[in-house]
Amino acid sequence: MNTEWRIQNPSGVHRVIVTKQLVGERWVQILTNADCRVDVCISSEVLSRQEIIDALGQNCAGAIGQLTEAWNREVLTAFKSVGGRVYSNVAVGYNNVEVAAATSLGIFVGNTPGVLTDATAELTLALTFAVARRIAEADAYVRTGKFRQWESSLFLGDMLRRKTLGIIGAGRIGSAFARMMVEGHRMNLVYYNRHRNEPLEDSITAFNEFLTHIGEKPIACRLAVSIEELLTMSDIVSLHPPLNQSTHHLIDAQRLALMKKNAILINVSRGPVIDEVALVNHCRNVPEFRAGLDVYEQEPKLAPGLSELPNIVLLPHIGSATRWTREAMSTIAAQNVAAILSGDPAWHGEDMRPFLEEKAPKAAPSIVNAGELGL
Ligand code: GLV
Repeated sequence: MNTEWRIQNPSGVHRVIVTKQLVGERWVQILTNADCRVDVCISSEVLSRQEIIDALGQNCAGAIGQLTEAWNREVLTAFKSVGGRVYSNVAVGYNNVEVAAATSLGIFVGNTPGVLTDATAELTLALTFAVARRIAEADAYVRTGKFRQWESSLFLGDMLRRKTLGIIGAGRIGSAFARMMVEGHRMNLVYYNRHRNEPLEDSITAFNEFLTHIGEKPIACRLAVSIEELLTMSDIVSLHPPLNQSTHHLIDAQRLALMKKNAILINVSRGPVIDEVALVNHCRNVPEFRAGLDVYEQEPKLAPGLSELPNIVLLPHIGSATRWTREAMSTIAAQNVAAILSGDPAWHGEDMRPFLEEKAPKAAPSIVNAGELGL
């Protein structure tokens, strides 16, 4: 394919490639203020490895890319050979980047955490309710002219209040979603995580004091001893782990079989966390079981049969897709690259909000291999 590029600030000292047009304007300003020439790919297709290597040209100090691209050792080596110093994903997840290879080449790798927590948690909530209340099926029913009369048994779904939510991976997004469901919908919580999440548990303890004060029963919350225990207890299971070797096919046929027959499985993390073929079989064999997916194992391809199942709601990987969030993600990615190219230090705080202020700190907001590279 012939890729099309738009060049901004052609006289900038550091050449930076941006493999897709990003949302908003501020990110361009950040890069041009840091004396970068910015080459933005304006073609709509996902760039292949070879297209990225070709785009690097003879001289490229920085790159901003997408979770759909493979920034593996081959690409990173090519990047290094033309002066590459920093790459940032416009995403919190970075399973598409071989970070160990980047580190061994001395290339900094950035991501965009924090600013997408609430948007992704809200989307998880929207998807959960869409599944529980059969919103997609009901919408199609109306659009296709089938709605003739009110019926008491039309699209019966499930109420979530006071049921049990199981969260696998209680990091930023998992915890934010858990709090929405606990505080908004009084769901009991069981979570599986490498460590006890004290801030999450403390917030639930405080919420329980409030519930007791208004005469309501408190919420139960606990750390599961195993994934199996969580799966057997939960009415809804929501997946929020990073994708790595230990989470690949974390949900497989055996674990699906442990879930309640009428449970709901939600995945807004990464597709390969679920064995998608096993999920299709399970949803076929157990029609009361339902699922909501924002991500797919072979994205954007779907496992055969997935799109024919009425008990699954499918979204096109839009977890963080709000305008504010995508602008903020573009801003953080640009700041990662601009700061490294300007010789600024890494920021070691979790809070990304200062970087969205007009006068942002002079630091790289989120460099995942900063420690290894001594920044
Ligand atoms: C989106 O999936 C992200 O990782 O930001």
